[in-house]
Amino acid sequence: MQIDNGDTKSKIKIRRSLVTNSDIVLDLFAGNGEMFNSCYSNCKKYTGIEIKKEIVRDNVVTSDNLSYLDNNGIGDATFVDIDAYGSCAKQFIKVLENCKSDSLKIVFTDGGKIDAQRRQSLVKELAHTDNVDPSEKLFCAYYVYDDVLKRFFAKTCAKNMYHITSFYMTHKDRNQVLYGAMTIETTRQIKINQNKSK
Ligand SMILES: C[S@@+](CC[C@H](N)C(=O)[O-])C[C@H]1O[C@@H](n2cnc3c(N)ncnc32)[C@H](O)[C@@H]1O
Repeated sequence: MQIDNGDTKSKIKIRRSLVTNSDIVLDLFAGNGEMFNSCYSNCKKYTGIEIKKEIVRDNVVTSDNLSYLDNNGIGDATFVDIDAYGSCAKQFIKVLENCKSDSLKIVFTDGGKIDAQRRQSLVKELAHTDNVDPSEKLFCAYYVYDDVLKRFFAKTCAKNMYHITSFYMTHKDRNQVLYGAMTIETTRQIKINQNKSK
């Protein structure tokens, strides 16, 4: 079956830069398992989620990833892969809402730059997040939303008491698709420590 894996080399590189054998991977867009074969086969545990019923593998659950997250959360995942078609924003929000551990690694693909419809969907998603400046929505509409996306990630993290501790982002050729990786850590302990020292 044909799965659009875009610039596979960059995708693999960005994942390998972050993943280790001790990671427990939740792969929300599992597809044909190219990332599993190249990056995750030696990990401690792997669970893939895939909407297409034709894709059947032992470690892949057939489901829409948003419903899966509603029903199961992220479990004990230490590494979440959001290799999305279009915008990865909805999945990112649900992952953060369901994250209970102190830290998490996340890789993402965001094709939001491809066409107006996808940009529009990101603009709509941003409209539901707190304190989004109208000029940020304008940025989206004008095709330059790297900063907007980073701010969106940061705000979603802050809302769920996390902060981004490392962030890396690269583009597929002609800037059409973004590939990114980040590590996040909870701010809960920081808050507790701050309160103690008052
Ligand atoms: C870009 S491909 C992912 C490729 C995959 N990472 C790999 O290594 O082969 C996107 C995959 O996500 C699936 N998909 C799209 N929307 C989904 C959803 N809402 N929930 C689960 N899977 C979805 C598509 O059917 C497709 O197989």
